[in-house]
Amino acid sequence: MHTIQSITEQLYWVGSSDRRLERFENLFPIPQGVSFNSYLFLDTKTALLDTVDSSVSQQYLENVTHALGGRKLDYLVINHMEPDHCANIEELVRRYPEVLLVGNKKTFQFFRQFYTLDIEKNQYLVNECDILDIGNHKLQFFFAPMVHWPEVMLTYEKTEQILFSADAFGTFGALGGNIFADELDFDRYFLDETRRYYANIIGKFGAQVQAAFSKLPLSSISMICPLHGPIWRKDIPYILEKYERWSTYTPERQGLVIAYASMYGNTESAVQYLAKLLSERGIHDIRMFDVSRTHLSYIVSEVWKNSHLVVASPTYNMHLYSGMANLLDDLVALGLKNRKFAIIGNHTWASAAKKSMEETLSSVKGGEVLASMDIRSSLKEDDLAEITAMADTLAASILEGRKS
Ligand code: FEO
Repeated sequence: MHTIQSITEQLYWVGSSDRRLERFENLFPIPQGVSFNSYLFLDTKTALLDTVDSSVSQQYLENVTHALGGRKLDYLVINHMEPDHCANIEELVRRYPEVLLVGNKKTFQFFRQFYTLDIEKNQYLVNECDILDIGNHKLQFFFAPMVHWPEVMLTYEKTEQILFSADAFGTFGALGGNIFADELDFDRYFLDETRRYYANIIGKFGAQVQAAFSKLPLSSISMICPLHGPIWRKDIPYILEKYERWSTYTPERQGLVIAYASMYGNTESAVQYLAKLLSERGIHDIRMFDVSRTHLSYIVSEVWKNSHLVVASPTYNMHLYSGMANLLDDLVALGLKNRKFAIIGNHTWASAAKKSMEETLSSVKGGEVLASMDIRSSLKEDDLAEITAMADTLAASILEGRKS
């Protein structure tokens, strides 16, 4: 059965959700699933915006067929040429051989790299700011390279002021009937996943998000239709403000994340002691993670939210323990900026972890290592003065940040 939902008089959601897929990009756990959104205008001309992942093709093609109701498909706008959105282009061209595929040079270059179907006669090449008139609706194309791939376009519908935002404003989490953010308890069920999606998928490209926003009529947007997750038709400044913070690497709050690696519990015990001292100093809602237990994407997301990060790890093979090395590599690769750090290394006969963490975190732009210490095997009475000083420094920095 089709699962089409009406958005405005001539615009329909024809996407689908997947709750079986274990990992997004075969990398990020998605325990609440994910939606792949696609939108269809039934105007004088018909225009579909993007397709969906192959995992939901059956439902999607049923939706498109039913929504078209026997009409032919005139245009397929390809805002993003990543396979979670373009897996059905070939099938749609086979079904609607006259369809015009709307994209830019990179779109069609990537199509030829992924697929084999000859689409030469279907290509409708657009340039920046071109407008496609489909009747009551006028689709204008803004290029948004690296949000999240180089070919990405954002489509702005001028009559109803609807932004089709590609991956921007997307989130992990399937949709079940309620396709609008204002129909959901967004803060409770989607905000953390929206941040995790942003930080891990688009986090590296903050400058490009800012560049794209500078082209758009942000004050004249009545609705945001992303490729994943709910549609925004109310409270648009709310999600814009989140994106402004995330894309400028500005913490949402003065708060603390503790990420540790621990082989036998001794490094964990040290950070538990530190956390206790911090709690006594008024630091609340400390977020603590074992890098061997929690998928790094969740830790990255919390780091994006909070101002301060403590990392603690043993030395392993004269190197940094791999779980911690992966987390720090990820944070650097994602271009983290403007955070304050404290470091605890642990070693039994030769120290490497502390130096490695210091070197990595000192490369973070706008970052500052507030305190750093090394312990031998386990925290002992001799270490208490140093770890207490670390707690004092961290607490003072967080509480000072809350005042400003
Ligand atoms: Fe949802 Fe960049 O693909």
